[in-house]
Amino acid sequence: MNINKNYLNLEDSYLFSTIAKKVSEFTNNHPEKKLIKMGIGDVTLPLAPVVVEAIKKAADEMGVQATFKGYGPEQGYGFLREAIQKYYSSKNVNLAADEIFISDGAKSDLGNILDLFDKDNTILIPDPVYPVYVDTNTMDGRKIIFADANEANGFLPMPDENINCDVIYICSPNNPTGAVYSKDALKKWVDYALKNDAIIIYDAAYECFIKSKDLPSSIYQIEGAKDCAIEFCSFSKTAGFTGTRCGYTVVPKTLIRQGASLNKFWLRRQTTKFNGVPYIVQRAAEAVFSTEGQKQIKENLMYYSENARIISETMDKKSIFYTGGKHSPYIWLKCPNNMKSWEFFDYLLNTAAVVGTPGAGFGKNGEGFFRLTSFGNRENTIEAMERFSNLF
Ligand code: MLT
Repeated sequence: MNINKNYLNLEDSYLFSTIAKKVSEFTNNHPEKKLIKMGIGDVTLPLAPVVVEAIKKAADEMGVQATFKGYGPEQGYGFLREAIQKYYSSKNVNLAADEIFISDGAKSDLGNILDLFDKDNTILIPDPVYPVYVDTNTMDGRKIIFADANEANGFLPMPDENINCDVIYICSPNNPTGAVYSKDALKKWVDYALKNDAIIIYDAAYECFIKSKDLPSSIYQIEGAKDCAIEFCSFSKTAGFTGTRCGYTVVPKTLIRQGASLNKFWLRRQTTKFNGVPYIVQRAAEAVFSTEGQKQIKENLMYYSENARIISETMDKKSIFYTGGKHSPYIWLKCPNNMKSWEFFDYLLNTAAVVGTPGAGFGKNGEGFFRLTSFGNRENTIEAMERFSNLF
C-alpha cells in the first residue's frame, strides 16, 4: 500500500496543538503561577439561558417514545435551516432553505468541501490566515499560491489580474488579523472570481462581530456572489458553541461549474459521508435565532467586545501597532522590540504567564506579529493587560 505522502509536507503538529503542548509544559514546571490564556479563540461565557432551555426540552423529547428521533436529515432539520434562512433575510440576502446545510462546525466543512474540487486546482490563500485552509489543501497535494497580507495593504490583499487561480479563500472579519473587507473591496474579489471562473470559499465565522451595517457580514450581500461563492458560518463564536458543535454552509443553487451543480454535489457528499448534527444541538442552535436568544447572545458578544476594547486601549497606550479589535474578537499586534513571533510567545509566557498565538503560525507574513483573543473573562483580561503593560 501507499500512504498519502502529502501528509509528510505538513508541519508535525497543528498550530494550536503545539501551543497547548508548550502551555502544558509551562504549567507543569510552574504550578504556582496563574496562567492567563489568550491563545486559541475559545469562548468562556456559558451558553445563553434560552439555549440551555432548548437543550433540556429536546433531551426530554428524546426520552419519550412519541417524540424520540433517530437519524435526522443529513443536511439538517427544516426548523434550523428555516431559522437561518430568516436570519439571512434580515441581512437582505434571500436563500432557499435547501441552499443551507447544517454541520458540526465550520472547521469540518472547510476541510470537507475540498471533496468537490479536483486536486489539480490552484488555490489562492491569503497569508497570514487560519491554518486549516493551507493544511487541508496540503493534505490533498494541491498547488497553493499566497496573497500577501501586510501592514501596507491593511492585511486586506486585493486580486491581482496577473494571477490565475481556481479556488480563493477569504476570511472576513479575518482570523487572525481582525481586518474586514468593505463591500467595494469584496465586490472586486467577486468580479475577479467570476472572470476567472473561480470559486470563493468565504469564511464568515466572525460575522457576528461586525458592528457597522456598511460592512458586509455575508458575501451574498455582494452582487454576483451567488454565482461564485460558498459561505461557511458557525455558532462557535456567535453563541459559544465551541464545545457544543454546530455550523452551517451555504451552497447556492446557481453555483454551477462545468455544467454541474455544486449544491447537488455537496448534498451528495453530505448524505454519503455525514449523518447530521444531533437533534438536541440543532434545537439549541434554533434557540439562538429567537428574539430572546438574539438578545442574550448580543450581551455575550458585547462582553467580548469590551475585552477587545481593553486590549486595544493597552496597545494604544504603549504605541504598539495593531489591527482588529473593533469588528473582531482578535487583536493582531506587532511584537514589541522587534521580537520574532515565537520569541515573543516564549517571553510573554515566561515573564507574564500570558498565552497568545504567534503570528508566524498563520503564515510567513505573520512573522513578527502576535494574536491576542478577547474571549477570556473580564478580570483576567484586565490582569493580563496590566502584566503586559509592566513589561514594556
Ligand atoms: C482560532 O483560535 O483561530 C480558532 O479558535 C480556531 C478555530 O475556530 O478552529
